[in-house]
Amino acid sequence: MAVVRVIGRDGSKQDLDVANGGQLMDALRDASTGVQGTCGGMMSCGTCHVYVDPSWVDRLPPKSEDESAMLEAIGELVELKPTSRLSCQIAVDDDIEGLCVEIAPPV
Ligand code: FES
Repeated sequence: MAVVRVIGRDGSKQDLDVANGGQLMDALRDASTGVQGTCGGMMSCGTCHVYVDPSWVDRLPPKSEDESAMLEAIGELVELKPTSRLSCQIAVDDDIEGLCVEIAPPV
């Protein structure tokens, strides 16, 4: 279990209790944060895009080539930041306790 702070598109903040063993995308989608996760975590939709708090960028496993390619693909539609990640590629475990993410604009 990890508590993840989520900043919504309207600037609202909420702390989500997220169970270990899944992907952050699932918890964000189920909490109606605006994350859709249309492709189910297959890295082909980009609807799970979040901005990770800068203090967390180096604490998460690095992006894979496929994740980077998907982010690049949606970069024509939404603003990318150095902190952009696909939340379907963030595994939930105790190590992400206190992670803060902002929901990116819809693609
Ligand atoms: S859920 Fe589709 S890219 Fe993450």
